[in-house]
Amino acid sequence: MKTFIKLTILALLISPFYLQAKEFDSETGLIIDKGFETVKANCTVCHSAKFITLQKGDRDMWKAMIVWMQRTQGLWEFEPAVEDEILTYLEKNYPPTETSRRPNLKAKDLPNIN
Ligand code: HEC
Repeated sequence: MKTFIKLTILALLISPFYLQAKEFDSETGLIIDKGFETVKANCTVCHSAKFITLQKGDRDMWKAMIVWMQRTQGLWEFEPAVEDEILTYLEKNYPPTETSRRPNLKAKDLPNIN
């Protein structure tokens, strides 16, 4: 009985990590989440999904990217609901990340070369 309780507690402690674990589409490498099928169908026609998985940005960045492709690269127009689904998927799964680069030094911290 004691073992059962310990195992139950352990399972409860660990489960959030499993629930959070991401699943990836083996064909494209895209994260499987709501809207994934729509993104796969519309966004891997002309180029590899690596273009997406290596990119990060907020909703505005993704929207600008799509508009740029529509204006210059022959990407078709989307129904508003479809575009919303795509943008929601992209901003959720490929958001901006903190860069590892340190912030620029302040002027006062630079060597005085005058
Ligand atoms: C009609 C063809 C086409 C479709 C469909 C398409 N793209 Fe593109 N996309 C392009 C072309 C062409 C480029 C530029 C390739 C290059 O830089 O040589 C590009 C570039 C990109 C880039 C920039 C990669 C980089 O860092 O330079 C991203 C991100 C991207 N596409 C995402 C998407 C997403 C998201 C979708 C779906 C909404 C999509 N693409 C659908 C044609 C397309």
